[in-house]
Amino acid sequence: MEIIVLPTPAEVGELAARKVAQTIARKPAAVIGLATGSSPLAIYAELGALVRGGHLDASQVRGFALDEYVGIPEGHPQSYASVIKREVVEPLGLAPGSVLVPDGRAHDLEAACVQYEAAMRDAGGVDIQILGIGANGHIGFNEPTSSFASRTRIKTLAPQTRADNARFFDNPDEVPMHCVTQGLGTIMEARELLLVAQGGRKAAAIAAAAEGPVSSMCPGSILQFHPYATVIIDEVAAGQLTLTDYYRHTYANKPSWQRF
Ligand code: F6R
Repeated sequence: MEIIVLPTPAEVGELAARKVAQTIARKPAAVIGLATGSSPLAIYAELGALVRGGHLDASQVRGFALDEYVGIPEGHPQSYASVIKREVVEPLGLAPGSVLVPDGRAHDLEAACVQYEAAMRDAGGVDIQILGIGANGHIGFNEPTSSFASRTRIKTLAPQTRADNARFFDNPDEVPMHCVTQGLGTIMEARELLLVAQGGRKAAAIAAAAEGPVSSMCPGSILQFHPYATVIIDEVAAGQLTLTDYYRHTYANKPSWQRF
């Protein structure tokens, strides 16, 4: 796992966007895995700016969202379908229909999960998966004790996750209880993983994911098994890591051909 510690959240967004932009430059029809929540917003804003400035053409990019709330009304501003449209599809100029989001309103949710996996496979798999991490170590909505072999499925959100996400809703009771999320096994099939985190509320989860034992108690620790996982965080999110000086040393001496 490559761990890059940068001074500010803005720099995290900028560097992570550069990595995604490099993936698209190398493969214009790249398939991008998309996290929602606040962590990746700076990445999407930066990619949008690159597109508007004529430095990036994302018109052939396709995408798959990590997760969606179950039962959230269609068009609700906090449904991940709405968030992806507003924060990714429109600013990056992606083609309509090029990004799929799990269907949290399907009559047969289990069948919809199977279809989602099939659609990802048919698209040739994900080239780069953007991830945030929950304060309890979840990635996607794979809460602690999720199986490392799990596939896209219905999960019950942890009380802490519902409380954390209440900030996006008018009323905390409005936060859905259930979600559909790509599984940890699904996420691990992406060719590259790119996790970003900012701020002190993520410091314990980052330390557990990057330096702790690989354990389903911290689902993010599964990244230690991925051959191409990059973690880009700010100083504050790095606050509980023990090898930060080594990560700085490695990044400062990163070979030029590996830079992005
Ligand atoms: C959402 C997702 C979650 C978030 C995590 C952090 O699609 O995959 O794992 O990344 O809950 O949320 P924020 O970024 O809002 O702190």
